[in-house]
Amino acid sequence: MSFPHRHLLGIEQLSPDAIVTLLDLAERYVDLNRSQNKHSSVLEGLTQINMFFENSTRTQASFEIAGKRLGADVMNMEVRASSISKGETLIDTAMTLNAMQPDLLVVRHPHSGAVDLLAQKVHCAVLNAGDGRHEHPTQALLDTLTIRRSKGRLHRLRIAICGDIAHSRVARSNIMLLGKMENRIRLIGPPTLMPSGIADFGVEVFEDMREGLRDVDVVMMLRLQKERMDGGFIPSEREYFHRFGLDAEKLSHAAPDAIVMHPGPMNRGVEIDGTLADDINRSVIREQVEMGVAVRMAAMELLARNLQASRGAA
Ligand code: NCD
Repeated sequence: MSFPHRHLLGIEQLSPDAIVTLLDLAERYVDLNRSQNKHSSVLEGLTQINMFFENSTRTQASFEIAGKRLGADVMNMEVRASSISKGETLIDTAMTLNAMQPDLLVVRHPHSGAVDLLAQKVHCAVLNAGDGRHEHPTQALLDTLTIRRSKGRLHRLRIAICGDIAHSRVARSNIMLLGKMENRIRLIGPPTLMPSGIADFGVEVFEDMREGLRDVDVVMMLRLQKERMDGGFIPSEREYFHRFGLDAEKLSHAAPDAIVMHPGPMNRGVEIDGTLADDINRSVIREQVEMGVAVRMAAMELLARNLQASRGAA
C-alpha cells in the first residue's frame, strides 16, 4: 500500500497514488457500512481522541462513528469547557494529550496551521478535521470518492466550485485534490469572495454562474461562511441567491447528468435552493455524508498501520 504518511494534515502532501490507495480502501468500508454487522477490529486496543476547537456536527459524528466501527476507544474532548478557554496554549494541550497516550488524534481548529503545529508536538498520528481557511483533507477525499462513484472516473471532469471560495478550506483542499487528478476546475463567485492569486492554482475563474456552469459534470456549492466575514462581502442574502444561488434554471446550463454537491451545513435559499438540494436525481449530498464515514475509516486504518510499523521498528 502506498500511503507513506504519519499524519493526514492536508491534501498538499499526498501523491495521486496515495489518494487512490485511500479511496480504494474506503470503497471496502462503504460495503462494510452497508452490511448488518459493521464492526471491524482494525483499531482494537487503540485510543482515538477527537478535539474540536470549533463547532462541528457532521464531521465530529463521522469521525466518532468511524473510530467506533473500527473498534477504537473513542473520546470526544469538550474543548470549550476545557482549559483551552482558560488560556492554556496549544503546546500545553499537546503535552497533556501526550501523557494520555492516544494513538489517533482528530483535530479541528479555527486557526490555519494550528493542526500542523500540534502534530509536531505529539507522539501519535494526527488527522486534520479542518484548520481555519487552510485545509480539510477528509472532506476533499469524501467529495472525490462521491464523484468517482457517481461519474465512474476521477480525471478529465469539468468541475465547478461555487460561492464563498475565499473563506473555504473545503474549496482549497478540493482544488488541490481534483487538480492533482487532472480535472478542469472552474471557480465561480463574486470577486469579494475569490482569494487573490487564485489563478496561479491553474483554475478558471468566473463571475457569472450561467457562464461558469456551462457543460460542467460536477457542481460543488459552498456555504456562505458568515462567521469568517467581517462585513461587506455580499450586498444581501437575497441578492446573493439571485446571482450565485444554485437553482434548477442555473443548473440547466451544466451537463444534463451533472451532479450537485454541498459539504454542509447548508444555508437553504442562500447558496442553494432547498428543493434542488433534496432532489435525489441530481443531488448527492446524502452520499457525501455516507462516504465521509468510509473515508475516515480508511484514513485511520492507514495511519494506524504506519504508526504500528514505526513502533515495531523503534
Ligand atoms: C465544512 C467545514 O467545516 O469546513 N463543513 C464540514 O466539514 N461539514 C464546510 C462549512 O462549514 O461550510
